Amino acid sequence: MENGMMNMKTPTNVTIKGILGALMASIDEEKKKRVISLGMGDPTAYSCFTTNTVVQNSVVHTLETQKFNGYSPTVGLLQTRKAISEYLSINLPYKLTEDDVYITAGCTQAIEVAISILARPNANILVPKPGFPIYELCAAFRNVEIRHYDLVPDKGWEVDLEAVDALTDENTVAIVIINPGNPCGNVYSYQHLKKIAETAKKHKILIVADEVYGHLAFGENPFVPMGVFGSMVPVLTLGSLSKRWLVPGWRLGWLVTTDPNGIFKNTKTVERIKKYFDICGGPATFIQAAVPRILEDTKEVFFTKTLCTLKQTSDICVKKIKEIPCLTCPQHPQGAMAMMVKLNVSLLKDISDDIDFCFKLAKEESVILLPGLTVGLKNWVRITFAAEPSSLEEAFDRIKTFYKRHCRQQKSQSNPI
Ligand SMILES: *Cc1c(COP(=O)(O)O)cnc(C)c1O
Ligand SMILES: *[C@@H]1O[C@H](CO)[C@@H](O)[C@H](O)[C@H]1NC(C)=O
Repeated sequence: MENGMMNMKTPTNVTIKGILGALMASIDEEKKKRVISLGMGDPTAYSCFTTNTVVQNSVVHTLETQKFNGYSPTVGLLQTRKAISEYLSINLPYKLTEDDVYITAGCTQAIEVAISILARPNANILVPKPGFPIYELCAAFRNVEIRHYDLVPDKGWEVDLEAVDALTDENTVAIVIINPGNPCGNVYSYQHLKKIAETAKKHKILIVADEVYGHLAFGENPFVPMGVFGSMVPVLTLGSLSKRWLVPGWRLGWLVTTDPNGIFKNTKTVERIKKYFDICGGPATFIQAAVPRILEDTKEVFFTKTLCTLKQTSDICVKKIKEIPCLTCPQHPQGAMAMMVKLNVSLLKDISDDIDFCFKLAKEESVILLPGLTVGLKNWVRITFAAEPSSLEEAFDRIKTFYKRHCRQQKSQSNPI
């Protein structure tokens, strides 16, 4: 094997960015094919996923006032916290206040804070498989044990709650729920979320709800925030502007205690959160200051258009995958920006697994897909559908060509030679 990445055994020792870099490096440039990357979750690479002028002008405005060149309070600007509490309260049966909201450098830092404040000797956290590798990376850094529960592909990637029961012990502190989901494109029903909340309550663990794709739901189920069940079980809600407003580079996120019974306060969790913010800096003050306008003034039509495009591009993937025998998609995506696709290597003559598939595909066709192993599922691939429709069509045409070049001879097929 010419590439060291092919020897990769566990998903915990490599980052998505690391493996995507290795895939890019293996592209055969002599083929002179335009590179199409469906590996990374940054939609801004494609012009149909551009933010809107309201969002841009909000930032221009705050810069021009020259009032936001100084430090912000460690937990974030008051008006920003207030605006986010109001935005999230719209979908909750109770009201959050600014005291519930902490401003972070993207959802990534919110994950880092959540894991850090939960860390204690012998603690373990339940995370989904497939999942989002940042959780593993943060937990490893903080010596928190990770335990994987399965998402069930044939049940809309729902949480295997029996597995959760079996994994939980007295040292389990939290369960991470990503909804709408990356990498599966799932959107959970109210009923399923309720069952998750009941399970967490039964085991006396809290829920970390990664809702970075909040409202990015275009299928049957509407988006329901986990915080709806906040009076049953305390929830730490994580989010950001990155995905819904299409500005991942602005690094504006939040960590929110969605907990009307004040359990986080009583257990001194709030104190720990505040201490943590004393030692880490959040996003630039002028970006924070733009948030109230961004949340209030973004027109509904902007969101509708994004959802429409995501529905269209995910449909293209589903349709094109049907033409490629070695790929199947057990579940149509219902939200977010990525989907998991099953790879049947027994139909291919010289491909050993998902990593081999992705490296050869990159080399021969300049198409980048993420090997499933990096998100915990061997012989699957993650495909990001937040891409230009024409790029998706072309990518799948190339994957089909690749399949034909590598497929095993079918017995039923007559061979003239
Ligand atoms: C993109 C993503 C994040 C990180 O969000 P940022 O705001 O860009 O830091 C967190 N969780 C999931 C599931 C994501 O897909
Ligand atoms: C792979 O395809 C073969 C031939 O169609 C089929 O018999 C087999 O069950 C498939 N394997 C998986 C894991 O889907």
